[in-house]
Amino acid sequence: MYDPSRPSGPKIIAIANQKGGVGKTTTTINLGAALAERGLKILVVDLDPQGNSSTGLGIDVENRTNTTYDLLVDELALSDVILETRHTNISLIPATVDLSSADIELFSNEKRSFLLHDALRQTEIDGFGFDYILIDCPPSLNLLTVNAMVAAHSVLVPLQSEFFALEGLSQLMLTVREVRQSANPDLRIEGVLLTMYDARNNLSKQVEDDARENLGDLVFATVIPRNVRVSEAPSYAMPVLSYDSQSKGAVAYRDLAEELLRKNARLAA
Ligand SMILES: Nc1ncnc2c1ncn2[C@@H]1O[C@H](COP(=O)(O)OP(=O)(O)OP(=O)(O)O)[C@@H](O)[C@H]1O
Ligand SMILES: [Mg+2]
Repeated sequence: MYDPSRPSGPKIIAIANQKGGVGKTTTTINLGAALAERGLKILVVDLDPQGNSSTGLGIDVENRTNTTYDLLVDELALSDVILETRHTNISLIPATVDLSSADIELFSNEKRSFLLHDALRQTEIDGFGFDYILIDCPPSLNLLTVNAMVAAHSVLVPLQSEFFALEGLSQLMLTVREVRQSANPDLRIEGVLLTMYDARNNLSKQVEDDARENLGDLVFATVIPRNVRVSEAPSYAMPVLSYDSQSKGAVAYRDLAEELLRKNARLAA
C-alpha cells in the first residue's frame, strides 16, 4: 500500500542483525502489531529455527504443520503454509527447528538464495491482500538471512543500546552490499532501530549518539525503551500492544509504525 514501486504488492522488510538477542523478534511482532492495529494486513515470516516469533504470536509447535522449511525446501504453496493468528490482521508462516538444516540441504540448489524471493512473489500472494511482510531473521548472516535480503525491499536493523552495539554492523552492511551486487540491486536500509534503551543509563545515550553520528538519518528517531512489559508479553503469546496497550513499549512501537509509514509515504511522493 505504501510501496510506490509495487503498488499492487506488499512491502517486504527483513528484520536482521547477526547479533543475538538485540530485539529482532520483539520488533517483528510489535511493529507488525502496530501496523495491524492501523488496519494494515501483515504477514510475519518466521525465518529463525528458534521459532520465537511463532511462539510469540501464539502458534504452538504442535500447530506448526507446514513451516518456512516446507516453503523453501519442499516448495509448498503459500496457501499451505500461511496461518491465521488470533491477532487481527496478522498472519504467520511459522518455523520449527527443522529450518536449521535448510542451509546444508539447499547447498547444491543453484537457486538457493532466491527461494524465499520466488515463494513470496507467487501471484497467489496478491489474493491475501497483505500490505507488509516482516521477515524475522536468525542471529546469523547465513543462507536464511541472505534469502530474506534477496526477497526484501528493505532491511530494518535493531540495535541493542549496549556496549559493542555497533560492532558487527559493518559486516551486516557488507552482506547488504553483496546482496545488492549479486541479486537485489534495489535493496534499501529501512532504518536502524535502537532497542532496549535505558534513559537512566549513560551508556544507552552514548550508543545513541554514536549511532546517530555514524549512521545519520538511517537511525529511526523513535527509540524503543527497555520495558518489562515488552519482555513479559511473549509468554502470554501476545504482542505488547495487546498485553499492555498503554505501556511505554507499546507506545514506542506505535511511534515506530507511524514513523515508518511517514517515511514510506515520503518515498512515494
Ligand atoms: N524493549 C525491550 N524491553 C525489555 N526487554 C526486551 C525489549 N526488547 C526485547 N526484549 C527482550 O530481550 C530478549 C531478546 O529479544 P528478542 O528475542 O526480540 O531478540 P532477537 O534479536 O530476536 O534474539 P535472537 O537473536 O535470539 O533471535 C527477549 O527476552 C526479549 O523479551
Ligand atoms: Mg529472534
